[in-house]
Amino acid sequence: MAKVLRRERLVPNIHLLEVHAPEVARKCRPGQFVIVMSDERGERIPLTIADWDAKRGSVTSIFMLVGTSTQKLSLLKAGDDLPVYVGPLGRPSDIQNFGTVVCAGGCFGIAAIYPIARALKKAGNRVLTLIDVKASYLFYWEDKLKKVSDRLFVSARDSRYDSKEYIPYKLDSLLKEEKKVDRVVAIGCTYLMYRCAEATRPAGVKTMVSLNPIMVDGTGMCGACRVSADGKTKFACVDGPDFDGHTIDWPELFARRKSYFDDEVKSLCAFERERFS
Ligand SMILES: Cc1cc2nc3c(=O)[nH]c(=O)nc-3n(C[C@H](O)[C@H](O)[C@H](O)COP(=O)(O)OP(=O)(O)OC[C@H]3O[C@@H](n4cnc5c(N)ncnc54)[C@H](O)[C@@H]3O)c2cc1C
Ligand code: FES
Repeated sequence: MAKVLRRERLVPNIHLLEVHAPEVARKCRPGQFVIVMSDERGERIPLTIADWDAKRGSVTSIFMLVGTSTQKLSLLKAGDDLPVYVGPLGRPSDIQNFGTVVCAGGCFGIAAIYPIARALKKAGNRVLTLIDVKASYLFYWEDKLKKVSDRLFVSARDSRYDSKEYIPYKLDSLLKEEKKVDRVVAIGCTYLMYRCAEATRPAGVKTMVSLNPIMVDGTGMCGACRVSADGKTKFACVDGPDFDGHTIDWPELFARRKSYFDDEVKSLCAFERERFS
């Protein structure tokens, strides 16, 4: 059981969830995640740890509204209890002084990339952050990202920021402009991570992606999060979630993420019908 300290809408489809979880806050590291259940009848869903405060004992995640469980989380209020809040899970991100690192993020990945960029900056890297949003009003945590980035480049389709271009195109041009990029880290929807990995493949720049397959237990027992990396079966919850994007079987990952699509749509419709009836 963990208490909700804060739940607030940051932009129309993205919410912040701050939870009192001192044990998690004390141990967590960039790149790790928690498994959360919004209510006793809910499902267990993974959320990346986007920030934490060990003194306050709090852990923050940012989530995007996509289906029933995230919709339920968006209705929580400060003081509510979460029946399940388990973590930190997964392997922490590889943080070293690589040199110049590009951190690319979109949707919930804008927040998920933040602790990684912060740790990479602290480790002495030059951090170039690339953010992709569908529209300017969907950008959040600008101040936090500016503080941990040597350069922050934002691409929004309505171009109120630096460009309209989808961020993998910017990544491609950045690799040509910069003398040397030593590593790329990309987090967001599967398509964004796939496109970032494809953008860096010709130059052979190592590109770490934080995979988001369906998960159930989050501890390597159920097999739900199976992915193929370098032709080998891996479980994203215990072997990842970070993987070298050039080794991933992306078509398999896209297909597996759609396995329950019809049920997810039915579940959301039923939940909304019940809520408004
Ligand atoms: C390790 C890990 C960390 C994660 N961290 C976060 C996080 O920090 N914040 C966050 O919001 N999500 C995160 N996710 C994804 C999150 O767990 C799912 O979005 C969540 O389980 C969806 O549950 P739901 O019931 O709301 O939607 P579901 O009913 O399960 O899904 C609804 C539909 O939306 C689609 N969908 C799901 N996610 C996305 C997406 N990101 N973009 C576009 N379509 C999508 C699915 O294909 C599905 O068909 C993470 C996943 C993993 C594996
Ligand atoms: S979520 Fe069950 S094995 Fe990874």
